[in-house]
Amino acid sequence: MLTHAAIDAFTALTGSAPEGVWVGPGRINLIGEHTDYNDGYVLPFALPQAAYVAASTRPDGRWQFRSVDLDETVELGQDELLPGSPGWHSYLAGVVWALQRAGHQVGGADLVLTSDVPLGAGLSSSAAIECATLAALADLNGLQIDPVERAKLARVAENAYVGAPTGLLDQAASTLCTAEHALFLDCRTLATSQVPLAVTAAGLEILVIDTRTRHSHVDGEYAARRASCEKAAEMLGVPALRDVTDLDAALARLPELEGRRVRHIVTENQRVLDAMDALAGADYARLGRLMTASHASMRDDYEITERSVDLAVESALAAGALGARMTGGGFGGCVLALVQADRVEVTADAVRTAFAGAGLGGPVTFLGRPSAGARRLA
Ligand code: GLA
Repeated sequence: MLTHAAIDAFTALTGSAPEGVWVGPGRINLIGEHTDYNDGYVLPFALPQAAYVAASTRPDGRWQFRSVDLDETVELGQDELLPGSPGWHSYLAGVVWALQRAGHQVGGADLVLTSDVPLGAGLSSSAAIECATLAALADLNGLQIDPVERAKLARVAENAYVGAPTGLLDQAASTLCTAEHALFLDCRTLATSQVPLAVTAAGLEILVIDTRTRHSHVDGEYAARRASCEKAAEMLGVPALRDVTDLDAALARLPELEGRRVRHIVTENQRVLDAMDALAGADYARLGRLMTASHASMRDDYEITERSVDLAVESALAAGALGARMTGGGFGGCVLALVQADRVEVTADAVRTAFAGAGLGGPVTFLGRPSAGARRLA
């Protein structure tokens, strides 16, 4: 559907059909939150929800970006590609800029965007756009860029052009994930492995609960967590919190606040490794317990949850979920719950009832089915 919407909008804009349509998915992080910028481990999978970019080259060396969803068009010349420019088109223009900065020849192009990744839900709507755009520009310009390098370049767009100080999680997930698998990524070595995530074969589903809570202070809180981690690593004399091997010794040397931040990162890294072990043994009960422990750590030590995500986790667990946790940067957004396939509706109903009882708006629920990463569709 969105492929056709992108093609039709492209044709209406330029008068001819696009050379192709590229897609970049949103992601869910199964476990491993805020570990990426601490050189740690993450375990995301890609969603079916994705950003679609219909694109063609154009001869005049300019870039035209159109958002179907916002009904807005922006055209930029080479000297207007300026880091820090506000607006949705930065997620596309930033990729042009990042590719050029890395020495790639990127000619002018028309790019038309539409997306069904919910905005601000912690599902990486921005990385989805960046990774679809990168796939499009690489193909249109005949650039040979390996997948890990693509993820890194998309992150440069996010960090240096858009100006968000994120880690590699989102762009790696959107670029490198494959259907029916989670992606294990070591954010220091950038080693990856595809981990079969056959929950449906085990009679389970990953129920995604979008609380539809979005907080405006997310960016500042994210930067503050990152700064705390860097400060703690410096106090401990390690390159990154990944290198903390003796948690008790580290806690004895840190102020209370930094200690709790460090405890989240160190225990969360271990939970990712334990989750890999649980998946290898098809031990979903253990995976569920690890997810719930991850949520408690984000709530109590990292302090990035809030009322609606905590309530979604509690009510899903009370309805019998094997485990539940918030996913993404925090302060709202989505919760994923590992549930028996025949308990999906009951669990979703229980969460809706709890939200209504707490005077919160209705959450939106859907199934998280591990899907393919960024690619050319048409
Ligand atoms: C956001 C960032 C990621 C990662 C997560 C938390 O999604 O973009 O780099 O830090 O938060 O795990």
